[in-house]
This record gives sequence, structure tokens and C-alpha cells, in this order.
Amino acid sequence: DKNGFEHFMLKEIFEQPQTIEDTFKGRLKPEYSDIVLGGLHHVFPRIAKAGRIVIIGCGTSWHAALIAEYLLEDFAQIPVEVEYASEFRYRKPLLNKNDVVILISQSGETADTLAALRLAREKGALVLGICNVVGSTLSRETEAGVYTHAGVEIGVASTKAFTAQVTVLTLFTLKLAKTRGTISDEEYSLLVKELAEIPKKGRAILENNEKIRQVAEKYKDAVNALYLGRGTLFPVAMEGALKLKEISYIHAEGYAAGEMKHGPIALVDDNLPVVVVAPQDAWYEKIISNIQEVKARKGNVIAIVTEGDTGLKELTDDVIEIPRSHPALAPLLAVIPLQLLAYHIAVLRGCNVDQPRNLAKSVTVE
Ligand code: M6R
Repeated sequence: DKNGFEHFMLKEIFEQPQTIEDTFKGRLKPEYSDIVLGGLHHVFPRIAKAGRIVIIGCGTSWHAALIAEYLLEDFAQIPVEVEYASEFRYRKPLLNKNDVVILISQSGETADTLAALRLAREKGALVLGICNVVGSTLSRETEAGVYTHAGVEIGVASTKAFTAQVTVLTLFTLKLAKTRGTISDEEYSLLVKELAEIPKKGRAILENNEKIRQVAEKYKDAVNALYLGRGTLFPVAMEGALKLKEISYIHAEGYAAGEMKHGPIALVDDNLPVVVVAPQDAWYEKIISNIQEVKARKGNVIAIVTEGDTGLKELTDDVIEIPRSHPALAPLLAVIPLQLLAYHIAVLRGCNVDQPRNLAKSVTVE
């Protein structure tokens, strides 16, 4: 049931504030400044003492893992590695009993992710899952884990499962940082409070849907697109590019903005839309100079900006505003306009957004 929406994907994009709230349920307790992750309770002392965390997934789940790498190293001060399941399973990865391996999968049935799980388990690592489907193979074969509570996701392009994964990973990071004593009480309480505000801010972004559709009209005939971001918003840029290529068949690449000069800048001309995730955070000045470099070569810049940022309005072709948030939580907001942009472009091009060509919802063969 599409609940009045034209496609499942749009319905699922609009469900995200609720998905985040559902993922918080029983876990985020802002009134006590507390986070409870029942599924990990019995293994948490082992996680807190781990020498390293390795996070593994495919596609969108891999993007969520990359965001967690930034968060975990920053707040919990624990070394993190992120790998594609398809690469990990065929290397000879060095793992030991002090390692924690986290498998992320919406379906819990992705063949490569399950193979990576079994390899990590054989090597004696503590194997955890972040998964959306209750009772899936991944949830059965991991030692412990956290469900994402996104509900059934029908659109082949993953949207609400991603925000739920990032929500779980953020809760996990804060809990781990608190346990390891690597975050101050003030910052922890602030983040817990700010996290509770994210669903409301997500709803505010969804109100810009029509504006985003109008932006999509301008770029629907693009052949290529570039997405740029820095920090946790670099994986968000990759996720935005993946959404666009999956459902609209426009060739899109997500890049770390600082890497632009090392290659992709050669693509910039007056036909190239460049989506820049540019909120007012620690990288703001750097991202402005990236925008200037694109404009100097006549590229079209669509910027995702902090509400009320008038400066970037003048510098760019189109802006889409997102509410101000703690920078660590920005991925949960910044991804929404990118999903909507991809969705509208694909619809305007007449594509089958819920079932794009050549793709399966769950990749159960390698
Ligand atoms: O079910 P999983 O999270 O393991 O699936 C992983 C990828 O196949 C999946 O995220 C894929 O990239 C999506 N179509 C992305 O929208």
C-alpha cells in the first residue's frame, strides 16, 4: 500500500522522520540523558575493550558504515576500518579475538555480506549485526546486534533503511564513547538532546519537496552529475550519487570535495550539475572554495545549505536548505534532499523508480 504516494520510494522517503523515531524507541532516553541498546548489552564490555572495529556492507549499507567510521573514531576514539563485503571475503583479512566486526545489511540476506560474516566468525572476531529484517540469516548468524526498525522497505533504492542504519550507528557511537570515557558529559547530553530533535528537522526538510522537484526539472536532462561533500557528508555525497544513478540512469559520482582537484574537476563544464553538501560546519570555508572552483569553470552548483545561509545563495545556482544541527548528526538530514532530488529527476525522465532496470532488492547471489 502506497498510502496515497505515487511510488513506494517517495512514501519511504517521507516515512523517515517516523523511522528515526521508531529506531529510537526504548533506546534513546533524552530525559535521562541515556542510551540503551538491549541487543548488545551482554557483549558491550567486550566491545568497549576492542582493539579495532571493522564495519562491512554493500551499497547503501557500506555508505552508512563510512559515516560510522568518522563518528566512532571521533567520539569513541577506537580505530575503525570499513570494507566492501565482496572485497573482504576474498582477501586474507587479519582479524583476531580483540576485533569487533559489524555487518550492516537492510535485508540480512546479501550473499557477500553473509560470506564476510562467516569468515569473520571463523577468525574469532566478535561478530555483530545491524539489520532491518527480523529473523534474517544475518540476524541469526551474528552473536548480537541491533535491529533498525525501518519497517518493510519496498523501493529497490534504499532510503529509510539507510537513515535507520545511521541512527543506530549514531546511538552505538555515543553509547560506546560514554562507556569508554572518551566524550565529556556535556557533549554527550547535548548530542542525546539534539538527536531527539532530528525527526522534527527531517519533517521540515520534507516540506521543501515541491522546491526540490522544481530544481529537479532544471537538471533532468543531465548526462553526468558530481556530488561533493567533506567529513561525514562525503559518504552522504556518495549515497546521493548512488540514488541518482540507480533510478535515473544518469552517471553520477560522489567524491570527497578535496579530491576534486585530483581528477573530477576535468569534467566540469556548463553541462555538469554539481551537488555540493555545504552546511555551515567546520569544513564550510573549504567547501566554499570548492564551489568557487566549480563556478569558475561554469559548472552548475546545487548546494545543500544550512537554513538562512544567504551567502551561498549568491554563489550557487540552486540552494536547498536543511535545518541547523550538530555536525555529527547532519548526515541524517542532508541525505533527504539528495533522495528527493534523485527521485524527482527519475520520475521526470519516466523511469520506473521502484523497480529500476537490472537491480534486485536483495542481492542473494554474488
Ligand atoms: O540488504 P543490504 O543492505 O545488504 O543491501 C545492500 C545493497 O545491495 C543495497 O544497499 C543497494 O546498494 C541498494 N539498492 C541501494 O539503494
